[in-house]
Amino acid sequence: MSVLPILTYPNPLLKSICEPVDDWSDDTEQLIGDLIDTMYAQPGCVGIAAPQAGFLKRIVIVDASRHRQPVSNHGRLVLINPVIEWQDGENIAREGCLSLPHLTANVRRARDVRIRALSPDKAEILLATSDFEARVIAHEIDHLEGLLFLDRVACLKTDVFRRKRYEVPDKKIPS
Ligand code: NI
Repeated sequence: MSVLPILTYPNPLLKSICEPVDDWSDDTEQLIGDLIDTMYAQPGCVGIAAPQAGFLKRIVIVDASRHRQPVSNHGRLVLINPVIEWQDGENIAREGCLSLPHLTANVRRARDVRIRALSPDKAEILLATSDFEARVIAHEIDHLEGLLFLDRVACLKTDVFRRKRYEVPDKKIPS
C-alpha cells in the first residue's frame, strides 16, 4: 500500500462526477488500501474521497475518531457507492479539505443523515449518524459529485478563511 499524491483545486478532476464501483478487482482493493494509507498519513485528516487522488470512482474513507475533540463516531468507514438516503436538521460548522489546503469555511449541512453504501466485501452498510461524522460523510460524498466545500459556502466574503499556518510570512527587510 502507498500514500498517494493529493490533487488540489483547481485540478479539473476535482470537478468531475465519479463512476460507481462495479468491478471488485484487485485494483479496487489496492486503491482502497492506498486511500486509507493516504488519509492516515495526513495528521488529523478525517476523510478522503477517491477523486482527491485522481481516481474518479465512488469510494470514500472516513474516520471521525481522529477529530481533535471526542465526537460520536463509527470508527473507520470504507463507503463504496455511498448515498445519503435521508437527512434532517441543519447546522453550520467549519470545514477544511486536503484539496483546499489554504482555506477553511463555514458550511451549512444536514445535522442527521442515513447513509447506504457497500463495504469492500460487498456487504450492504446502513448507517445513521449525526453532527460531525454526518458532516464528514456528506463532505466526502460531495467530492464524488465534483463539489468542494467552496460550492456550499453561503458568502465567500464572510464565510471563507485563510489558514494561518499557510500564510506566507512577510518579507523581512535585512537590517
Ligand atoms: Ni475534502
